Parts: sequence; C-alpha cells; structure tokens
Amino acid sequence: TRSIAPAQVLQGKKVTITAGPTREALDPVRYLSNHSSGKMGFALATAAARAGAEVTLIAGPVRLATPAGVARVDVISTNDMLAAVERAADDCDLFIAAAAVADFRPAVVASQKIKKQDGNDSDVLRLVKNPDIVATIAARQVKRPFVVGFAAETEKVSEHAAGKLQRKNLDMIIANDVSDPQSGFNSDHNQVTIIDKNGELPLPAALKTELAAELVTRIAERAFPAN
Ligand code: CTP
Ligand code: CA
Repeated sequence: TRSIAPAQVLQGKKVTITAGPTREALDPVRYLSNHSSGKMGFALATAAARAGAEVTLIAGPVRLATPAGVARVDVISTNDMLAAVERAADDCDLFIAAAAVADFRPAVVASQKIKKQDGNDSDVLRLVKNPDIVATIAARQVKRPFVVGFAAETEKVSEHAAGKLQRKNLDMIIANDVSDPQSGFNSDHNQVTIIDKNGELPLPAALKTELAAELVTRIAERAFPAN
C-alpha cells in the first residue's frame, strides 16, 4: 500500500494557531468561560502540520490530544493567551485565531472564595473588557504575519463577519453560523464561509477534520500566492 501525502502547501512556513476557550478566574474555585471544544483549532493544527508547516498551537483548557508534530503551549486566561501569541508571532508567517476568547474578565480576582453572606448581592460581579488578541497581532507594523480570524455568529452572519474583517484589519475571516446546533461550537461538523477582500466563498458542510484540510489549502493560496 502507498499513502498519499497531502500537498505541502505550507512547507517551510511558521504557523501559530489559537484554540479552545479562555478561562477567567473569579476566585480560587470559580471562573467565567464558554463551551468551545477546541476541535476546529486542533484540526487546523493537524492539517497545517501535515501540509508541512512548523506549527505552534496555543490552547486554552481543552481535553484534546496534541496533534503529531505540533508544539503546544497551554494557557488559561486571555492575558496569558495574548502573551503566548505575542511571543510566537515574532517569528511567524501565518496566524490563525480559532480560539473562543472570553470577551470580559472579572475586574478583580478575589484571593479567597467569595461568600454569599458577605453583603454580596446578585449584582456583585464587575467585569472589564479583555484585550483583542487577533486585532493586536493584525495591528502590528512590523513582524505582522498573514492574519486569519473566525467569526461565530447567530444572525446576520456575513454582515457581522465582514464587519470584524474590516474593524480588526484581518486578511481573511472564516464565518461560522452557530445558531445551527448541528454545526459550530461543540460539534464535529461545521459549515463556514470564507470572506476576504475578494468576496465570499461558502464551503460545503463537512467534518471539522475535512474542513480544516480544505481551509489550509485556501488560506495557503491567499497567504503565499507565489508558492
Ligand atoms: N478574538 C481575539 N481576542 C478576543 C476576542 C476575539 O483574538 N478578545 C478573535 C477570535 O479568536 C476570532 C475573532 O476574534 O478569531 C472573532 O471573535 P468573535 O468572538 O466572533 O468576535 P468579537 O470581536 O469578540 O465580537 P462579539 O463576540 O461581540 O461578536
Ligand atoms: Ca467574542
């Protein structure tokens, strides 16, 4: 038997990928987070490594095995993920932001468990906005990789995704309708539309593993057109 290697469309390229949720502590025993499984980001890391890339996968708290040939950095909070991404992006050709980053974190992290009888009422939680990781990298003047974002939307999917492409100065955004429970967040399947300055390209619904290979091919075509 003979195995057919996938086209080495990312040969010699350094690729950084974020995956999974971030988690923001409230106190030593509680946190804010979301239901991201990390499957899409891990599938992209697998596909990029198979396509010949040197991959750094910066993962929030997920229960997934590290893909073969991938360097993994585990992080918990959004600020930790940003620091790891800033470091990796200094020597990187392509950044794919697949993480479901917590948009807010508690303004203060209590050093001891918050007690309900300490005069705390239902509106006890004060939040502050987290830094935008993908926008921070895309705003770089030097050492700026090709930057790909994701947009998980429940309505006006193209409109909201195109707005993020522009606002965050991304090179490409992958729009994802998460109102369909068969697709997106925790599922093995996904249906996405690629949006860049040339317009929109809807891809057929597929397993995240198949979709990741297709996305890697499409991203490589646009990021490194001379190859
Ligand atoms: N993202 C990021 N840092 C954040 C928030 C989002 O890097 N603090 C990235 C995600 O990894 C994704 C893209 O930005 O690639 C879009 O994330 P999304 O949550 O859809 O967009 P937001 O800008 O956070 O807008 P909203 O959640 O209000 O729709
Ligand atoms: Ca968000």
